[in-house]
Amino acid sequence: MAKIEVNKQLEDIKKVASLNEGKNLKYCILTMGCQLNENDSEKLCGMMESMNYSKTENLSEANLIVFNTCCVRENAEDKLFGKLGEVKKYKEAKGTIIAIGGCMMQEKHIVDKLKQSYPFFDIVFGTHTLQEFPTDLYNVLCNKKRIEDVLDIDGDVIEGLPISRDDKIKASVTIMNGCNNFCSYCIVPYVRGRERSREPKDIINEVKKLAEQGYKEITLLGQNVNSYLRNEKEKGIEFEQYEGVNSFATLLRAINKIDGIERIRFVSPHPKDFTDDVIEAIRDCEKVCKLVHLPLQSGSSEVLKVMNRKYTKDQYLNLIEKMKKEIPNLTLSTDIIVGFPGETEENFEDTLDVVSKVNFEQVYMFIYSRRVGTPGDKMENQVPENIKHKRFDKLKQLVESQIAERNKEYVGTVQKILIEGRSKTNNNMLTGRTDSNKVVILEGNDNLIGKMVEIKVISEHMWYLKGEIKWQNIHLWCNTIYKLKKNIKIVFCFIV
Ligand code: SAH
Ligand code: SF4
Ligand code: F3S
Repeated sequence: MAKIEVNKQLEDIKKVASLNEGKNLKYCILTMGCQLNENDSEKLCGMMESMNYSKTENLSEANLIVFNTCCVRENAEDKLFGKLGEVKKYKEAKGTIIAIGGCMMQEKHIVDKLKQSYPFFDIVFGTHTLQEFPTDLYNVLCNKKRIEDVLDIDGDVIEGLPISRDDKIKASVTIMNGCNNFCSYCIVPYVRGRERSREPKDIINEVKKLAEQGYKEITLLGQNVNSYLRNEKEKGIEFEQYEGVNSFATLLRAINKIDGIERIRFVSPHPKDFTDDVIEAIRDCEKVCKLVHLPLQSGSSEVLKVMNRKYTKDQYLNLIEKMKKEIPNLTLSTDIIVGFPGETEENFEDTLDVVSKVNFEQVYMFIYSRRVGTPGDKMENQVPENIKHKRFDKLKQLVESQIAERNKEYVGTVQKILIEGRSKTNNNMLTGRTDSNKVVILEGNDNLIGKMVEIKVISEHMWYLKGEIKWQNIHLWCNTIYKLKKNIKIVFCFIV
């Protein structure tokens, strides 16, 4: 897949920026999807800020409202249509520009519905035309005409767009777009196209730049990260050799060497592609977190076959056994769908069985949602809604009881956490995460933000742990005292 230069886009960004100069315009973005979708939103924010719009969370004061949509489940659609109803009044009152982009716009029936029931939008753009947003906006501003900019063919890999990130400590880096797997319930391959990997050089340079900017944690993103570069190898596309990267495992190793980065996470790998070299890289790279998100979807081999997942219950469990042997302190999280067409009570029991055996750190649970155009939608043996909900509740109960038990095991242990900032729910507390991605809150000074510290867990709650800083972090305390009392030359630290 060709990589395109963004010169034209940068020119259009400048044109819109000069139209907007001195007008104090604002944008509001609503991001409705997964982490890839969030990362796309950061690129949209980068473009809008370069075009002289500043960010607001308040829809009513925005001059430009952008929806970055998702269509993986039905509730995402309900959310969009609900919000569109709400923004209509701003369009009518002050001519707010309404742009709708993202995965859902790749679905023709949805764009048709928009044109019929919500015809007040200005721009519709898809996943393959995100980089065209400045051009589309320029045309709307100049010609006041509605723009539909959706492509059915796979978009190019885009490098060099501006980006405005949400966080100062943690950053997401998309390493590949698209998916080749066609799980029979899933819409993603239809709306994101085939797998296209970014060049190793571009990824590594982006991470190096993030490290220079002070970022500490990197999450590598893709629908199937452990098939990074696979499509390119199959097609004979060769990239410039860069730091020995020729697979996902070697990419992890290369990023592990970047100074300043302290933690590396990745989502999502596919169990069928989890090769030994990836397991070894996770084991060997001290910065790679030992939490592996390994989507199960169903514990029943029969259902997995119809889902087109290409592994059985035993293969999944054996993979976990192998990983546990190789990787000390391994923890696991997963995604599970209940109520896939044809799922029997016995099939569902298999899912519960895997959950009981693995004892996941976290389980993201979903009720099966029919997606137009997928094989699952055409299956006749759909599970009735009430049964889906009953199974969901049963799974949730099991997961919550396991999490409660695991939380108790954390109390009294020492954990390394990366302090991310002030807690959103309690400004007096700092918040951070363990290697296993558990939220920890603790008392402490702002100086600790962005630092890795050792804490002792003192109590547990369902969705977070409470910790206190350990005296081993004395270098941080000294640093803090030193900064507060710059005129004191010698700092005495008493350890009680
Ligand atoms: N590529 C990733 C994630 C894809 S979407 C993976 O393969 O794991 C995130 C999750 O949404 C999936 O793992 C799946 O559990 C869930 N999901 C996808 N399609 C769904 C559907 N039609 N109904 C319910 N859940 C779905
Ligand atoms: Fe969807 Fe399966 Fe691809 Fe994940 S691997 S995005 S679940 S088709
Ligand atoms: Fe949704 Fe698209 Fe992500 S469908 S889950 S936003 S790839």
